[in-house]
Amino acid sequence: MSQLLNDSSACSAFSRRSFLRSASAALVAAPILTEAHFARAASMSTAAAVPEFSMKGIYLDANENPLGPSETARKAIANIIPNGGRYAPPLYFDLMKLYAEQMGVPVDHVMVYDGSSPPLHYSSLAFTSPSKSFVCGNPTYEAGQRAAEIAGAKVHGVPLAKDYSHDVEAMVKADPNAGLIYICNPNNPTGTITSKEQIDYAVANKPAGAVILVDEAYIHLADATSAIDHVKAGKDVIILRTFSKIYGMAGIRCGFVIARPDLLRKIENFGQAPMPITGMIAAQASLLDPDLVPTRKKIIGDTRNNTFAWLKANNYSFIPSQSNCFMVDVKRPGPQIRALMAKDGVYIGRTWAAWPTYVRVTVGLPSEMQAFQASFKKAMDTPAAAFNETPVGRIYRDGIYV
Ligand SMILES: Cc1ncc(COP(=O)(O)O)c(C=O)c1O
Repeated sequence: MSQLLNDSSACSAFSRRSFLRSASAALVAAPILTEAHFARAASMSTAAAVPEFSMKGIYLDANENPLGPSETARKAIANIIPNGGRYAPPLYFDLMKLYAEQMGVPVDHVMVYDGSSPPLHYSSLAFTSPSKSFVCGNPTYEAGQRAAEIAGAKVHGVPLAKDYSHDVEAMVKADPNAGLIYICNPNNPTGTITSKEQIDYAVANKPAGAVILVDEAYIHLADATSAIDHVKAGKDVIILRTFSKIYGMAGIRCGFVIARPDLLRKIENFGQAPMPITGMIAAQASLLDPDLVPTRKKIIGDTRNNTFAWLKANNYSFIPSQSNCFMVDVKRPGPQIRALMAKDGVYIGRTWAAWPTYVRVTVGLPSEMQAFQASFKKAMDTPAAAFNETPVGRIYRDGIYV
């Protein structure tokens, strides 16, 4: 621990980074939403309610990783617990230094957060406004859009292309006054890829003044190329990464934003993150484990592909995904199937307004996907019924959804 408390040389490297910068931007009071909020809010409907959260059900609704933190991360967490009374700033610096090295960018191009939700939220607040719109795919992950709405921005949801990639040509043309163009790669909820060439096109053809945010939350699970070279080239590009997906740390919390320092500063003006030392030490241990990403990519990929083989053999329609989630067309309002499966304690994901007959399913453990198959088949064999979903709400606050 003494090492933790000593002034590390890394600290001085950060002395010009205003790590304690007070937020000077106009703050917009708004909740930071993450996948768990959207997933649980979707479940809090009259018919598909998860009665009370317990760890007993089979949760395939929030793109979580049932493998949890790796063995080395667990050990690191256990070892750091006695030091939990410390803020331990050198850990911040050491982690950012390691991350920057691994990503091949200068250390002033990265900032650590407790997940990627905060920098996603802050990016929307920083780069959109009533006169600067938010452009995204449709369907895509909703959190950035929700924050942009709070900033008073217009949202342009551009339908995905026929191959379920982002239609970047339409996206860059959507609004000459775009403030933020959000590309989720692989996309949540489809798990589909937008090629590097398409992202290059977006960067080259975006409106002047627009910033492109590439959300790479799921990139380790797929054969997609990162857009980080655009950050290295000094472009108006922000990359988001999280430890919530392949690293299995959604409940432990760690994520990064990678961008030019002037862009980072605009994001940081809305907030930095008081990091849990457990999250930082687990992220560090995970980054130092060379087997973690390939091993888990294979485990999750094999389970996903086995599920696809079963869906295909049973003539169900689904969108081939490279991620830990996929969309399946249930040919009736999606929440009907979700509600039927909830009765079996199998909680699948939500439906997006653009595709009302599709539900998103997260890839769980092989045993969980066996339970999924049994429950899904049973639900699909149940005749479609009149069904009114009455959402209770969408934001979790003080124990309730409002
Ligand atoms: C595309 C995408 N981006 C960002 C996040 C935020 O994740 P976290 O805050 O856990 O890092 C999620 C969560 O599922 C996501 O799906």
